[in-house]
Amino acid sequence: MKISVIGTGYVGLIQAVGLAELGFDVVGIDIDETKISLLNEKRSPLYEKGLDSLLKKHVNKNLFFTTSNEAIKDSEIIFICVGTPQDKEGNADLRFLFSAVNSIKEFLTDSYKVIVTKSTVPVGTNRKIKDMLRDYNVDVVSNPEFLREGIALEDFFNPCRIVLGFENETKKKPRKLMLEVYSYFKKKEVPFILTNWESAELIKYAANTFLAGKISFINELSRLADKVNADITKVSEAMGLDPRIGNLYLNAGLGYGGSCFPKDVKALIKQFENYGLEPRMIKIIDEINEEQPSYFLKKIKNYYGSIEGKTFAVIGLAFKPDTDDLRESRGIKLIDMLLREGAIVKGFDYVEKARKNAILKYRLDHGKKHYGYNIRIVDDLYSCVKDVDGIIIAVEYQKLNDEDWGKISTLVKEKVVFDGRNILDKEKLKNLNFKYFGIGRNSFP
Ligand code: UGA
Repeated sequence: MKISVIGTGYVGLIQAVGLAELGFDVVGIDIDETKISLLNEKRSPLYEKGLDSLLKKHVNKNLFFTTSNEAIKDSEIIFICVGTPQDKEGNADLRFLFSAVNSIKEFLTDSYKVIVTKSTVPVGTNRKIKDMLRDYNVDVVSNPEFLREGIALEDFFNPCRIVLGFENETKKKPRKLMLEVYSYFKKKEVPFILTNWESAELIKYAANTFLAGKISFINELSRLADKVNADITKVSEAMGLDPRIGNLYLNAGLGYGGSCFPKDVKALIKQFENYGLEPRMIKIIDEINEEQPSYFLKKIKNYYGSIEGKTFAVIGLAFKPDTDDLRESRGIKLIDMLLREGAIVKGFDYVEKARKNAILKYRLDHGKKHYGYNIRIVDDLYSCVKDVDGIIIAVEYQKLNDEDWGKISTLVKEKVVFDGRNILDKEKLKNLNFKYFGIGRNSFP
C-alpha cells in the first residue's frame, strides 16, 4: 500500500517513519525545502530518540521525502499532519490545514482515496474537510495522535489505543483501509475505538486536557502543602496508588509546557465559548498553569530579598527531558522573568540541540542587548553551576541525581537549590549543606 504523509513535523515525521518501519511505501511531503533536503540526507531536522537510525534504514528504500504533492496521485491513504498552532484569540489556527487540503485537490485522481486527519483539530473540522473535498472520490477519517515528544517512536509502536472517526461508521471502504494500515496494532491487541468524526476530535482534546488537569490539580494542592508542612511528593505517591487515580501526571512543578497541552487546553476553552458554554474547570487548569512559574519565582525572591545582580544556573531549557523543543518551556519562561528582574542567568540542558535552540532564541527573539548580556548558555553542568548564587531546576531530569553533588557544592558561590520539578534527593542535598526548596515540599522560604 502506498501512503503519503503531508507535514514532516513531530507528528508527520514519526508517522512516516513508523509506517515505513511497518513495511509500507511512504512519501513524506513538506513545503519546507530545508527540512526535505535534510531528510533526504537521512538526517532528522528534530531531536527524537531512534529517529536517525530509522531514517538511515528506510530513506530512499521505502521512504521518500519531497516538496511536491505529486505522490498523492498514487497513494491510497493520505495522512494530514500539519501544525494547528494557536491563533491570537487562543483558537486553533487551521490555515495550514486547509491550505494542505486545497493543495492536494489537483492530485486527487478518480481512484478512491482516504484522507486521514492526524493534526489536532477542533470538533467539526473533519466535516469541513469533507465539505471541501465533496467533488472528489475520497473519504475523510479522523485519527488523532497521542505521541509524547522524546519517546514518540516508542509511543508510535506501543499505543494505548487507536482512535478512528468516520463520517458514517457503517461505511466499509474507509474502515477496511484504515484497519489494513493499522493491522500490526490489531494483531498486538491494541484497543481500537471506532466512532464518528466529532467524538474522535473531542477524544484528543479530552485526553490532553485531562492530563493537564491532573498537573494543575497537584500544582494547586502544592501551594497549600507549602503552607501547612505537607510534602506534595508523598501526597501524589499515595494518591497514585489508588488505581482509580493512577500515579502519572501527578508531579507538582513548574507546570506543563510544550506544543500541545498549553495550546490544546486553550483551544478547548475556545470551543466551549464558541458554542456559548462556560468551561469552568478547564479555564482554571490553564490559569493555574500560567501562574506556576511566577509562583516559583516568588519563592526565589522571598529567599534573597532582591535577585537583582544575582547569578543563577538554570538547568533545563526545553519543555521536558530528552527533547530540543523550547515551545512553551517553563524554564524559558522563568529565565525571561529572572532576566527582567535583573538577574544573571547561565542556562544548561543535557540535549545539545536544546542548548543550540536557546542560543538562537536569545539572539533572535530578544537580542543579547535587550537583556544587557545577562544570559549565557553553557555546554556542561559543572561550568553552569560555577560561582552561582543559586541553582534552579526547570526540567525533570532524573539523571541529575547521579551528578557529583559533592563537586557541585564546591563550585557554587551559595549552596541553595530551587527544585522546580521536585526531582532531586532533598536529604542528600541537605547532608551536603545545601538549602533545598522544592514545590509543595514543606519548604517555603
Ligand atoms: C502530550 C501528550 O502527553 C501526548 O499524549 C499528546 O499526543 C501530545 O501532547 C500531543 O498532543 O501531541 P507532550 O507534549 O510530548 O505530549 O508532553 P508530555 O510528556 O505529556 O508533557 C507535557 C508537559 O507536562 C511537560 O512540560 C512536563 O514537564 C509536564 N508534566 C508532566 C508535569 O509538569 N507533571 C507531570 O506529572 C507530568
